[in-house]
Amino acid sequence: MAKGDKGRTSAVLDRMLTLEVVRVTERAAVAAARLRGRGDEKAADQAAVDAMRRELNRLPIKGTVVIGEGERDEAPMLYIGEAVGTGEGPKVDIALDPLEGTTICAKNLPNSLAVLALSEGGGLLNAPDVYMDKIAIGPGYPPGLVDLDASPAENIAALAKAKGVPVGEITACIMDRTRHEALIEAVRATGAAIRLIGDGDVAGVIHTTDPDETGIDIYIGIGGAPEGVLAAAALRCIGGQMQGRLILDTEEKRARAKRMGVLEPNKKYDLTEMASGDVFFAATGVTDGNFLDGVAFKRDRIETHTVVMRSSTGTVRFIKSTHLDFSKFEND
Ligand code: FBP
Repeated sequence: MAKGDKGRTSAVLDRMLTLEVVRVTERAAVAAARLRGRGDEKAADQAAVDAMRRELNRLPIKGTVVIGEGERDEAPMLYIGEAVGTGEGPKVDIALDPLEGTTICAKNLPNSLAVLALSEGGGLLNAPDVYMDKIAIGPGYPPGLVDLDASPAENIAALAKAKGVPVGEITACIMDRTRHEALIEAVRATGAAIRLIGDGDVAGVIHTTDPDETGIDIYIGIGGAPEGVLAAAALRCIGGQMQGRLILDTEEKRARAKRMGVLEPNKKYDLTEMASGDVFFAATGVTDGNFLDGVAFKRDRIETHTVVMRSSTGTVRFIKSTHLDFSKFEND
């Protein structure tokens, strides 16, 4: 758990919500999983959006989407600012990605997820849908060990020293993009290994929290800003360090960010500036992955695998659900 947070359980968020949020990501994951491997990103995403929205609107909350499917004019559902929930209950901010890794799902490759984070009002950075430069490591290291403004060689050397291993035993996760050519070269020059991923950097960041299981020690590189906030919410609960900086390289992006409350365009956000206060995070596997199994459709049941965490208590629960009643998924 994030250091210093223990005991700050919010009076606003009820712990009953832990199970409620699991239902939301489960529903979205099942809907997307029906379209796994069909080569149709849009259809899988739409199915997940519809299912997540339906289930979210059953939650006893006064929710506002702060990270969603896009801005109001471009996303008809789960857009930024949309009110969700029954309207009865605590006032919460919501960051969501009903299908994180649409291409992964369409190709039936590992690590696509249905993801949701929930905080007390104002707890999540209202990031526009632009790119974000990110760096993340797991828990157990001294604060400030790695830094976005340090070179890849400096970060990898510091991490190896703190872990007590040679640099050659460090693995960095980086998205396989041409924009990362120089980064990849610089990391390889240190002797560290790289896990190149095609998509899905929410999972990439989370994987740093359990290197023994995932083989990944550090995440570095540029991905979506909304995904950055979601990953930060997860790390606030499970522990670890992360920094992010929005890439606002045009006047239009700077203006859009300003409208969302970003006043310092070059600001380097740390974990608590992206996700603060009491935060819940839940993710259900759509396809099989390093820390979650994908949805399994059996003859008489559906099985789902979800992780749900809460920052104020530091509880991380893995929930394997067996759904015998198919009728609840009928519309999904
Ligand atoms: P989608 O689920 O929207 O397809 O996003 C997948 C993803 O790989 C994210 O995990 C990542 O942050 C972003 O896309 C990177 O964007 P780009 O594909 O433009 O490099």
